[in-house]
Amino acid sequence: MSKPYALVTGGASGMGLATVEKLAREGFAVVMLDRAAERVQREAQRLLDGGLTVTGKVLDLTDEPAVRALIDELPAITALVNNAGVFDERKFADVTSADFRRAYEINLIAAATLTQAVARKMPDGGRIVNIASRAYLGARNHPHYVASKAAIVGYTRASAMELAPRGILVNAIAPGLIDTPILRALTPERLAAQLALQPTGKAGRPEDVAQAVSFLVSPAMGFITGQVLFVDGGKSLGGSGA
Ligand code: NAI
Repeated sequence: MSKPYALVTGGASGMGLATVEKLAREGFAVVMLDRAAERVQREAQRLLDGGLTVTGKVLDLTDEPAVRALIDELPAITALVNNAGVFDERKFADVTSADFRRAYEINLIAAATLTQAVARKMPDGGRIVNIASRAYLGARNHPHYVASKAAIVGYTRASAMELAPRGILVNAIAPGLIDTPILRALTPERLAAQLALQPTGKAGRPEDVAQAVSFLVSPAMGFITGQVLFVDGGKSLGGSGA
């Protein structure tokens, strides 16, 4: 029998890359989509050499016609992981409308456009996972990011309702601090301050998020939709644990 297809955006780095590998090991034919051409080529080849079924696609998710053309050309996707995202820090007083537009363009609109295109061909019983952020609950120094992640949680709930009649389950993951290249946007001082707030005293690993995605896309998981799963070492509990 041929393998079901999974599509992971931002799949060439961080938690997206860990998710590509995890889903491929679990029997999916995985499409790794990312705009970073050199990393796509290198990482997809590494996983292929390891015997996994992974195809790299280089694409900027904000290029809507190219996104729609790619989905037309690909086989039906059984599991979609909207993981690609951008993060930067700006003081509340300094954030501009351009900062808001950029955050929304990728963290919300690109994911929504892709979801719509993929859902048309997705088999009944498919799965969609959106990578939001614990920050959607509120955080300092990146209001545009916080708002865009709250927006993807809203979109998760809306699309869960729209797609439930077809048995397609849509959930979000809200990671806390995870050790990936995106953290380079934080100064060493800000990173240390964030780590100090972790009840577990450490950042999570990309594999911790991949494990949660694996659960949410599993056909054995059949009755959870429109929910947010926190993968944050307890940060969302509201304190440092002290
Ligand atoms: P990362 O920076 O390692 O990976 C993100 C990937 O998305 C990169 O490979 C990048 O090239 C790709 N990407 C960004 N914009 C794109 C576009 N327009 N088209 C195609 N590809 C694009 O970051 P990480 O940490 O693995 O982030 C994954 C997701 O997790 C993001 O949505 C991020 O906001 C979220 N997140 C990360 C946290 C962390 O502490 N690392 C915490 C909470 C959420």
